[in-house]
Amino acid sequence: MAEQKATNVYWHEGEVTRNDRANLLGQQGATLWFTGLSGSGKSTVAVELEKALLAKGKLSYRLDGDNVRLGINKNLGFSAEDRTENIRRVGEVSKLMADSGVLVLNSFISPYIQDRDQVRSLHEVANIPFIEVFVDCSLEEAEKRDPKGLYKKARAGEIKNFTGIDDPYEAPTNPEIHLHTDKMTLEEEVDAIVAALAELNLLTEPKA
Ligand code: ADX
Repeated sequence: MAEQKATNVYWHEGEVTRNDRANLLGQQGATLWFTGLSGSGKSTVAVELEKALLAKGKLSYRLDGDNVRLGINKNLGFSAEDRTENIRRVGEVSKLMADSGVLVLNSFISPYIQDRDQVRSLHEVANIPFIEVFVDCSLEEAEKRDPKGLYKKARAGEIKNFTGIDDPYEAPTNPEIHLHTDKMTLEEEVDAIVAALAELNLLTEPKA
C-alpha cells in the first residue's frame, strides 16, 4: 500500500452529492476493470462496449494501459513496483471518475491479484460498484495473435519482464464477469457485459 506522505491534509466534502450527479446525468458511475494478458482483447472489448453504451445513452470513458503510460504514468516501467503504482494511480483516478457518474472502462494487464484487490477495496469503501472482467485468453492464443509484435521480441530477449513470458500473470479467482475469449465472439462478450450491467441496475435511470 502506498504511504501517505503529506500530513495535515483532510478530505473536503462538497454539497452536491453523488446522487445529484446521477440524477443530472441519468446514470450511476461504476468501474469496470478488464484484466488479462497483453493481446487478450481487453481494449478491443472496451472499445466495442463503449459504443454499445453510447447507443444506450450512457456515458463511459476508457482508461487504457498503453494510453495512460503515454501520459500520467509516463514515468513508470514494468517492474513489479511500477506495475503496482500504475494500477494504484489508475484505480484512484477511476474511483474519482466513477464518483462523478461515468462508467469507467479500464484495460490494464494488472497482473497481480493484490493490486486489483486493492482497487476493489478502494471502491467498496467508497460504495462505488467495481466489476472485475477477466478477459481469459491463453498465452498460446495471445502469442499467436501478437498484434504489436511484442511476444516475438520478448521471446528473442529484446523485451524483459514481459507478462506471460518472463513475468507472472495472476488470473482472477472470482471475477464478476469471465469472458472465455476462445469460445465467445466479440459481440457475445459485449452482450454478456451489458447483461451484467443491467442486472446490477446500472443501465436504468437512477432512483431519485
Ligand atoms: S500493467 O502490467 O502495468 O497493468 P499495462 O496494461 O499498463 O501493464 O501495459 C501493458 C502494455 O504495455 C502491453 O499491452 C504492451 O503493449 C506494453 N508492454 C511493453 N512492455 C511490456 C512488458 N514488459 N510486459 C507487459 N506489457 C508490456
